[in-house]
Amino acid sequence: MDKKVEALIEDLNVDLAHEYGAAIQYSYSASVVTGLFRSALKPFFEEEITDELGHALYLSEKIKSLGGLPTTESAEVPQPTEVKDILNEALQAEKDTIIRYEKRIKQADELGFTELKVKLEDMLADETHHKEEIERLLEDHRLQ
Ligand SMILES: [Fe+2]
Ligand SMILES: [Fe+2]
Repeated sequence: MDKKVEALIEDLNVDLAHEYGAAIQYSYSASVVTGLFRSALKPFFEEEITDELGHALYLSEKIKSLGGLPTTESAEVPQPTEVKDILNEALQAEKDTIIRYEKRIKQADELGFTELKVKLEDMLADETHHKEEIERLLEDHRLQ
């Protein structure tokens, strides 16, 4: 197998582990968020789970199509308990994912994998939307 494709598959498996991690992190966050914020944040976190699992499913299928073996492991997920920490950890995870997808888009482009590139751009748009929503939630003065 082409060395660049091999490297791409390895990196997509890192992305996949982080998508599983994101689904776990949002499930965890929906479960533990407490206080007055709970009624607003629980549905917000729950909605994210579907997005992240959709990303995971796409990556898993793509890794197999490219000749790789999709991981079944999740990236490590932090377990904060304070609302502000829960949101900050989610924000950091989204920022890290955006950086990974920016790199992955370049790799896919270099290899001429147009469909993968376009799909990664869609996922990057989803993650950017998640990041911006969390930033706006963190603007609440009670969380300063
Ligand atoms: Fe995602
Ligand atoms: Fe996300």
